[in-house]
Amino acid sequence: MANTILVGAQWGDEGKGKIIDVLTEEADVVVRTQGGNNAGHTVHIKGQKYVLHLVPSGILRKKKRCVISNGVVVDPVSLVGEIEGLRKLGVPVDGNLFLSETAHLVLPYHRELDAQRESLKGKNKIGTTKRGIGPAYGDKAARTGLRVLDLINPERFRRQLETKIKENNEILKAFGAKPLSFKKVHDEYRAAGDYLKSFVANTVVLLHEAVRRGDDILFEGAQGTFLDIDHGTYPFVTSSNTTAGGACTGSGVPPHRMDWVVGVMKAYTTRVGEGPLPTENAEIADMLHAMGREFGATTGRARRCGWFDAVATRHACMVNGIDELAVTNIDGLDTLQTIKVCIAYRDGSKQYDYIPNDIEVLGRCQPVYAEFPGWDVPTHNVKKWKQLPSRTRAYLKAIAELTGAELAIASVGPGREQTIFV
Ligand code: GDP
Ligand code: IMO
Ligand code: MG
Repeated sequence: MANTILVGAQWGDEGKGKIIDVLTEEADVVVRTQGGNNAGHTVHIKGQKYVLHLVPSGILRKKKRCVISNGVVVDPVSLVGEIEGLRKLGVPVDGNLFLSETAHLVLPYHRELDAQRESLKGKNKIGTTKRGIGPAYGDKAARTGLRVLDLINPERFRRQLETKIKENNEILKAFGAKPLSFKKVHDEYRAAGDYLKSFVANTVVLLHEAVRRGDDILFEGAQGTFLDIDHGTYPFVTSSNTTAGGACTGSGVPPHRMDWVVGVMKAYTTRVGEGPLPTENAEIADMLHAMGREFGATTGRARRCGWFDAVATRHACMVNGIDELAVTNIDGLDTLQTIKVCIAYRDGSKQYDYIPNDIEVLGRCQPVYAEFPGWDVPTHNVKKWKQLPSRTRAYLKAIAELTGAELAIASVGPGREQTIFV
């Protein structure tokens, strides 16, 4: 499979977890390179549902090495909980899960600050997952963050945490929030540090050895293109580079060792949190929610839903260099008579075939739609491309062509086996 970067081509929750699990069959190593436990990646295997937040979705296949690399921000207590959950389900983690020494930590004051800043923003809030992601990356950029290296060095951790708690308690007090107890945080996080110690590694060296051996590495993206701190719908974004370049900086594997980029997208569009979503449509949202679908894997919030937005996915193709596409949740459209696809945006007399940078302009944009006939039959049992209704195939070919990349995978259900290779 060569070294492959997998990215979300929309606003997150495209079904990356499911596709990673499928592609891991051919991989030796799977690496999470950015984001934190704001991510929720769902994988269904033989009736068992797994939701991964920090651990790569590749962990569910035996004998695959999984790496949480330097670009990820890690809440140690949350990671311990996730590892414990996997152990309880009989998923092996010892000897095959590695945590970067230089990954930055998410600490309780980051979560508190995230919540306080959101509530101060009121109706202008971002709608974050309140996992402390923004404040943790903020500390990283300000060069005042603590890293995994610090967590597993008891003396240093105590010293650094003491200073940080003191400083952040002043800020929390200014917000009118309760200050944190140094002892409580210290004891809880030190215990997590001891638990995690055996997973800690120099993952840059580990990955370079894998590259030298010719191992196949799969880089698991979190969030999606339009949540990227540089290329997304700023400020309604997350705080990391979710696009393909983030896989290099977030892992230390250089660009010329990357061979392939896979973009995952739903056959329609969803977004959780605030910010513009040009194709948002209440009827589709009601239809999908009534099926029990499109509730966030991390926060349980109902996702906003809309028609497929080819302006967005074309833009995603451009900034990620997507070679191949995996389209998921095709079965979500099974009952429709007519399906719309956004092919351009219009703002007054101006037409856009890319995402305008000014959020106010994007907020005003109206979608220009093309219509496709629905197939109106269930697809979830289909196993082969040729067995899909001809209208489904035509729709998928059209959205891939509008996006500008090859269609490689069509997904008709959450299960591993509900995957069609085109
Ligand atoms: P991720 O964050 O990109 O990994 O996506 P999430 O796991 O947050 O959300 C995707 C949701 O769609 C999950 O509930 C998956 O189980 C589900 N899913 C993925 N592919 C398909 C599909 O083809 N059909 C259906 N019905 N569900 C799917
Ligand atoms: P996966 O990996 C969907 C959204 C939040 C909010 C914005 C900022 O499962 O696709 P943050 O907590 O990161 O500061 O929130 O980003 N968001 C996601 N939306 N899927 C995700 O991850 C997301 N991670 C963050 O809802 O709008
Ligand atoms: Mg998700």
